[in-house]
Amino acid sequence: MTQQWVNLEGKVAIVTGGSMGLGEAMVNELAANGAQVISLDVAANDAHKNQANVATMTCDVSHQKEVTAVVKQIVDQYGHIDVLVNNAGVSRPRMLVDYYGTHPEYELSEDDFDFMTNINQKGVVFCAQAVARVMIKQKAGVIINMSSEAGLEGSKGQSCYSGNKAAVAVYTKAWAKELGQFNIRVVAVAPGVNERTPMNNDAAFKALAYTRGQDPNNISSDYKAIIPLGRPGKISEIADLITYLSSDHASYISGTTINITGAKSTR
Ligand SMILES: NC(=O)c1ccc[n+]([C@@H]2O[C@H](COP(=O)([O-])OP(=O)(O)OC[C@H]3O[C@@H](n4cnc5c(N)ncnc54)[C@H](O)[C@@H]3O)[C@@H](O)[C@H]2O)c1
Repeated sequence: MTQQWVNLEGKVAIVTGGSMGLGEAMVNELAANGAQVISLDVAANDAHKNQANVATMTCDVSHQKEVTAVVKQIVDQYGHIDVLVNNAGVSRPRMLVDYYGTHPEYELSEDDFDFMTNINQKGVVFCAQAVARVMIKQKAGVIINMSSEAGLEGSKGQSCYSGNKAAVAVYTKAWAKELGQFNIRVVAVAPGVNERTPMNNDAAFKALAYTRGQDPNNISSDYKAIIPLGRPGKISEIADLITYLSSDHASYISGTTINITGAKSTR
């Protein structure tokens, strides 16, 4: 059971993609610490429907009109927006060229590129834009963008996703420079290998194994060899970082991407 360890009372926080995986944990942690949280997702989460401090709204972040409408609805209902967590993201492991020649479906297609880029980049940009308009008027706010170790290092078999996440890290720097004068912080977070979420489902693991020339039926990783802390990150550890960054304790952190990889990446 999460306990309150920072005071977010009075803050209104939006988490995109809050129904599952990391986003679900972020919603729960922010709400447990007193924030009023609004989860924007295309999928439902029944547990959130009757949860204290949590509201859910359906929104496809890749459609700017839906984002604009839902942000207006949130301002009308709650009066202000203090935190935006741009968490919704998708991954399809794809090779630039299927040089193994047996699974052409794992070669990056135009549809794959558009699907990932529309959600991972366009969604992030237009959610940030709609919310930043509100935060500029308030002269306060925090925008937290989910990047990835893949975006800092490049990930074999995930070049499109890596490019999207690199873009997110650089949007973060540029927006921090644009919006700092309005007392708005912009920060990115870059997780590495973590406890499994729906994003890392069996189909995704199988595809990733193929792109890396590994046996899809035997892809258990030797975490001790690849992660200095010897284990995957916990979902709760990422939610804790988001909660801290949302709080006033992080009031001088802006324009940077925070690595949370157990030292797997040291960027
Ligand atoms: N899981 C990891 O190990 C990991 C590592 C690095 C970065 N990340 C990043 O963290 C974020 C969350 O990852 P996750 O593993 O929890 O993913 P997930 O697939 O488990 O959950 C993603 C959530 O986003 C929602 N979503 C998808 N498309 C959407 C859309 N168009 N509009 C609104 N909501 C949408 C889904 O319904 C789901 O609730 C992503 O941005 C991901 O790239 C995850």
